[in-house]
Amino acid sequence: MFHHVNAYPGDPILSLFQDFQRAPQARKVNLSIGLFYDENGAIPVLESVRNAAARIAAQGAPHTYLPMEGSAPFREAVQRVVFGEACAAVRERRVATLQTLGGSGALRLGAEFIKRYFPDSAIWISDPSWDNHRVLFAGAQIEVHSYPYYDAASNGIRFDAMLATLETLPARSFVLLQPCCHNPTGLDLTREQWRAVIACMQARGLIPFIDMAYQGFGDGLDDDAWAIRAMSDAGVAFLVSNSFSKNFSLYGERCGGLSVVCSSEQEATHVLTQMQAGVRRAYSSPPLFGAQLVAQVLGDAQLYAQWDAEVAAMRARIKSMRTGLRDRLRDALPGRAFDYLVEQRGMFSYTGLRAHEVDALRERFGVYLLRSGRLCVAGLNAGNLDYVAEAMASVLAPQ
Ligand code: LMR
Repeated sequence: MFHHVNAYPGDPILSLFQDFQRAPQARKVNLSIGLFYDENGAIPVLESVRNAAARIAAQGAPHTYLPMEGSAPFREAVQRVVFGEACAAVRERRVATLQTLGGSGALRLGAEFIKRYFPDSAIWISDPSWDNHRVLFAGAQIEVHSYPYYDAASNGIRFDAMLATLETLPARSFVLLQPCCHNPTGLDLTREQWRAVIACMQARGLIPFIDMAYQGFGDGLDDDAWAIRAMSDAGVAFLVSNSFSKNFSLYGERCGGLSVVCSSEQEATHVLTQMQAGVRRAYSSPPLFGAQLVAQVLGDAQLYAQWDAEVAAMRARIKSMRTGLRDRLRDALPGRAFDYLVEQRGMFSYTGLRAHEVDALRERFGVYLLRSGRLCVAGLNAGNLDYVAEAMASVLAPQ
């Protein structure tokens, strides 16, 4: 009966991570998937999360079902951390927010919504974008196109070309944008560029879908959400997916949110109820534990302050690894430009390494990057920095 089912060739990120875990090399370094490792190479359990878990355990509450849209305190916390305390749209109850299965779950739920209510609309994603963006939207039968973004020659953003493309899109097209720590390039728009994008969205009647997976890893929790707040202040209707996988180090708990900014409370209520229906069709209701952890931390002033400081420390560690790698590569290969490592933001750097160089790093040194050349800076630490820099210098050195 299942003879016609072909094997899935695998995912460029998740399958590579599995390969890494199985790899027999004595010395190996994972710089592929977006996981934040601490200075000892471990995935941290944040103290704020540990404290929240202790409080939740002490309450001994039953493991009941959450409603389809998720936990109310979690959803309120999402609105505060994503949109800020002063957001008019939140105050006017114009934002429909659901708890989702991580950022991916939010993107997929949003995609199903788009397909149902905007069946003729396509979505435009940056070139390049997170590999799974295309897969998620195409999987919901939405046409996916790309707009220019990365400029290999200058290691910058092709902003004029990006804007020129957006200016040609039909009204009601969706545009996927990342407000901070762009995955995979680490290159973010400036505020001035965001203002131009927002004006274009309004002038052309485009609908932004903002995907924020790394809030706090760029310049700070509020700074990283600036574009979302500017968009909301400008009165644009848009969707936001956000993830707590990285900034809470809660990857496996699948904690995320989907928010839809509407023009009235009634519109937001209708959107929310249709999203509830979408959840019921797919998995009934989201899981409880991660949402309890996040809501506990974000809803308590003391735990929030502790978490904020932990996020700041993660951000600082990533930045110091960027500088460390840049310095070592500059020393090893004088005359070559490595400043992009410190200019890019967030967990990832787009190194410009070609696929055969990435393969050589993996096969000869056990250093795993994505074949696109994306390197997860958060996998570096004082114990592997020299080794990785030497390995990179060796594959980059002229033969
Ligand atoms: C990544 O880009 O490595 C992360 O977002 C993890 C994932 O699911 O791909």
